Amino acid sequence: MVHEHDVVIVGAGIAGLYAALECSRSVDTAVLSKVFPTRSHSISAQGGTAAALGNMEEDNWEWHLYDTVRGADYLGDQDAQEILVREAVEVVYELEHMGCPFSRTEEGKIAQREFGGHYSDFGKGPIRRACYAADRTGHAELHTLYEQGVKNDVRFYSEFFVLHLLVEDNVCSGVVAWDMRNGGLHVFHAKTVMFATGGYARAWKVNTNALSNTGDGMAIVLQAGLPLEDMEFVQFHPTGLYPSGVLVTEGARGEGGFLINDEGKRFMEKYAPAKMELGPRDVVSRSIQREIDEGRGIGGKGYVYLDLRHLGRQAILEKLPQIHELILKFAGIDAVTDMVPILPTSHYAMGGIPTDVNGQVVMDAKNTPMRGFYAAGECACISVHGANRLGCNSTMDCAVFGRRTGRAMAKFVNSGAEKAPLPKDALARGRAKIESLLAVKGKESPAAIRDELQQTMMVNCGIFREEKLLKKQLEIIKSLQERYKEIQVSYKGQRFNTELQDAIELGNMLDFVETIVVGGLARTESRGAHYRTDFPKRDDVGWLKHTLAWKTDTGVRLDYKPVVITRFKPEERKF
Ligand code: FUM
Repeated sequence: MVHEHDVVIVGAGIAGLYAALECSRSVDTAVLSKVFPTRSHSISAQGGTAAALGNMEEDNWEWHLYDTVRGADYLGDQDAQEILVREAVEVVYELEHMGCPFSRTEEGKIAQREFGGHYSDFGKGPIRRACYAADRTGHAELHTLYEQGVKNDVRFYSEFFVLHLLVEDNVCSGVVAWDMRNGGLHVFHAKTVMFATGGYARAWKVNTNALSNTGDGMAIVLQAGLPLEDMEFVQFHPTGLYPSGVLVTEGARGEGGFLINDEGKRFMEKYAPAKMELGPRDVVSRSIQREIDEGRGIGGKGYVYLDLRHLGRQAILEKLPQIHELILKFAGIDAVTDMVPILPTSHYAMGGIPTDVNGQVVMDAKNTPMRGFYAAGECACISVHGANRLGCNSTMDCAVFGRRTGRAMAKFVNSGAEKAPLPKDALARGRAKIESLLAVKGKESPAAIRDELQQTMMVNCGIFREEKLLKKQLEIIKSLQERYKEIQVSYKGQRFNTELQDAIELGNMLDFVETIVVGGLARTESRGAHYRTDFPKRDDVGWLKHTLAWKTDTGVRLDYKPVVITRFKPEERKF
């Protein structure tokens, strides 16, 4: 079956829905999603959305820009970062006017709280910049945008799993998707396609991500012969609930929570004496991991404590109700009376599909654009987060660049763009993929391969990296790729075949993880979230550049492109 639309957006998180809203004002817009839209992973964004509103104290976008540049360890493109922080203010008010239920100050303004890495006056004191809806900010924003999409007659195709991008002669004409509910393959033919497919942290055992976050969009881009950018930069959030890694929002530290080791000490004094628990995420995660590795985890185990008790019952229940409930349900601990065991947890992709500042995908180090193909949100690399993202800059990135990308696509369509013809037998690759996965009578279980991938990524490609471990991980990935050819999908039906879904997702994970490891092996420096114990210093002479990675028949090919620096020259980071 072939569906015809002006715009096809893959992914229904904040970026996809904001883009859909913009497009739907003037052109025929469809959204495809592996899950029902309001189950997209943006729903689990907890602590806030950064914008220099100055509702609680003086603030301005230039301070926000400085923090974002420095937080990114100078690898972000400053032209894109400036757009992010300037448009953030307008976008938060736009969300408010659409009805987003933000928490309020006593005067009825949008409430704001402190978050790691956000400071006043070019890096001085902490500042309340994170606009929040209790600790359910993503939930509030996602529902607001979904309602607007429904109102504007966006056509939603839920539980459609995109398998391939249709590209010929560097022009994108659509996608092929598997209808997970009814079975069968569908072609979506469009004037323009956008990927807003989210992140990939499910490739690590301990992570904050939804089950659906298996990096499909990034893998599909690699499979289409396009590069990914800065994949070696993987963020570990400091506070995941022990042992699973479920997110415990940074808002908890923003409200005044402490980190405590086995000696009962606030150990952040040692690592970031000026900013303590509100240092940027890369710094706080490494500090926690060091405490654990050096035997100062609680009882010598793999966690430290987050102490919220001094905040009091009323503040916890009013400002952090979701994590209070989540900690109670998952760990049986009442954060009002007891300390919470936490550990760093894989959380966010700084790298992804390279785009320009209007979301158009670029194909090489010269930033050559691909006609008809756009991306935004976590799957994209614009690059606003560089080597390390600040908390609360992600939902804002999704909103600002989702909106910009939607506007750019609508403009493209309204300028008279025609649909590129579909490739001959557009379904062939999708059909071959499904048929071959169902046909293999192998001995390997997809679940066992996935488990081995997740466990080994934690050990060999986690917070601390070194050549020996990365090389070992590359060998492991290659052997898992070989074993993948022998997997057994025992249920052969096409309707809600979750075994088949797992197998496709695993294939995608095995493709993009290779770019993370190869990019990380090549980058012989430490910058932001990429910390090499064998190269512990940042090296601006050799490595102030973006990585581009292609998947070829002989392995991953790398190239590099310059970082855009406008206002702030690289300096040493001290917190
Ligand atoms: O800690 C949090 O609430 C997560 C926020 C973020 O990743 O931006």
